[in-house]
Amino acid sequence: MANSKYEYVKTEFEPDFETKLLPSTYIVIRIDGHQFSEEQEFDKPNDPRALMSLMNACAVAMFEEFKDIVFAYGFGDEYSFVFTRTSKFYQRRASKILSTLVSFFSSLYVTKWNLFFSQKDLRCTPFFVGQIMYFPWDETLRCYLAKRQDDCHNSNQYNTCLWELVKSGKTKTEAQDILKGTRTQCRNELLFKQFDINYNTVPMMFRKGSSVFRDKLKVVVKNRENGDPVVRLRKKVIVEHCDIIGESFWREHPSLIASEDLNLLRNVHSSNVYECMKNETEVKNKLLPYTWIVVRIDGRHFHQFSDMHDFDKPNDSKALGLMNACVVALLEKFKDVIFAYGVSDEYSFVFSKTSQFQQRQGSNIVSMIVSFFSSLYVLNWDEFFPHKELRSTPSFDGRAICYPSTKILRDYLAWRQVDCHINNQYNTCFWMLVKSGKTKREAQSILKGTQTPDKNDLLYKQFGIDYNTLPAMFRKGSFIFRDKVEEIVQHRENGCGHIQKVQMKVIIEHCDIIGESFWKENPHLITCDN
Ligand code: GTP
Ligand code: MG
Repeated sequence: MANSKYEYVKTEFEPDFETKLLPSTYIVIRIDGHQFSEEQEFDKPNDPRALMSLMNACAVAMFEEFKDIVFAYGFGDEYSFVFTRTSKFYQRRASKILSTLVSFFSSLYVTKWNLFFSQKDLRCTPFFVGQIMYFPWDETLRCYLAKRQDDCHNSNQYNTCLWELVKSGKTKTEAQDILKGTRTQCRNELLFKQFDINYNTVPMMFRKGSSVFRDKLKVVVKNRENGDPVVRLRKKVIVEHCDIIGESFWREHPSLIASEDLNLLRNVHSSNVYECMKNETEVKNKLLPYTWIVVRIDGRHFHQFSDMHDFDKPNDSKALGLMNACVVALLEKFKDVIFAYGVSDEYSFVFSKTSQFQQRQGSNIVSMIVSFFSSLYVLNWDEFFPHKELRSTPSFDGRAICYPSTKILRDYLAWRQVDCHINNQYNTCFWMLVKSGKTKREAQSILKGTQTPDKNDLLYKQFGIDYNTLPAMFRKGSFIFRDKVEEIVQHRENGCGHIQKVQMKVIIEHCDIIGESFWKENPHLITCDN
């Protein structure tokens, strides 16, 4: 397809910009629930049980989707996923891997919610922040995992004490004061003496967290004629709640992390090694100050996803409506997003040059946006497709790109809108030809080398369609932003008139964003600085 004059924004700002992780290192993606545990007000102490089971069910499903995940460890609302050393997943592109995993996990979490909390509605949109790390050596990966289990122990022991104290009548602040500065031994004694609880009898899932991995299990595959079972070893994803700090788990599962020399670890306190390693292993990508930040998300395998859900071709109004509804909710949540522009299965979110959102940490920003969006997509599905079951887990990848000037940001948006036009016009012709009886191959060869006027002609002459009368949402995409809207807030008691108030509202338009007029009408969106 023809290139537009705006394509330079891609070739000059996006190629290879994405960090590729060193080959032959373990990639670890850690995801962490963001605030929603507090907002959701889980019951104590029973809900965390279901919460952990929900997290574990999602982790198991991740293994089924991403074959290169070799091990996962989680507790509370966090999970770390370890990829094989040799993984070539997405050519080891950091942002692609991170965003895809966080997105998929978020969708799973919302999809599976009802299985664990049938009596409890989701009160807010759950989302996760992601972090990406790599570990060059087996020992450092082991140290990282050991540190996670150490944190699990500390937080679970602390929380067990805290909630016992609260149940016994203390306020939360009093309980926190009592626990200030206490260590393991002291907390064990408190539990034992005051509440008759032997901490070591608390369920392993809470004390040790959950380790997920594939293991060979004996499975009955069929029965012989005489009724005897035929047993084979099959790889299954299993969840265990065991110690992963010591040697024994790793010795029993040598294929997980092929430790070259476990002896190296013997004399080193794992937490210390991890602290030393931390700065080197976490992929930090602070986005350039004073540049426009664009986070672009794109549906993963949406070609299949739209076929599976029988979306109208080439445009499904409901599917686009669902995307737009998610973006409206996202703008209501994240005030740092000034506006968003989207078509098909993609959306670009624009943050101001001066935004300090997440201290401009790229991985945090991308993972939060893609996670929140994915959760919303699942949550809002029924509203747009009340008679269609969601048959697969939708996910999106995301990236952050920095644009130094307003002109380049405008060119970026123009590039996306030109792309929308080119794709939509091509797809409209293509599907009209197919619907009229041509094969897909015939339709492709008819359209080969055609320009905009040829396609307009074809649509008009063969199908009586004036392209410019097709819905603007299909031709122009959707632009979503905040604007002042006058609203009736109250009708006067005497019935004469009403009181109006100017409110900021998130609104959707399907207009031209390449020319000047839209920007002149909405000068508050981007201020000229160049
Ligand atoms: P990746 O993004 O690389 O994972 O591949 P993808 O399959 O998502 O394709 P891509 O993002 O390049 O293009 C989006 C695809 O989503 C389109 O090619 C369509 O197949 C599909 N799609 C998006 N919106 C609609 C729609 O409204 N109707 C239909 N029928 N399909 C749509
Ligand atoms: Mg896509």
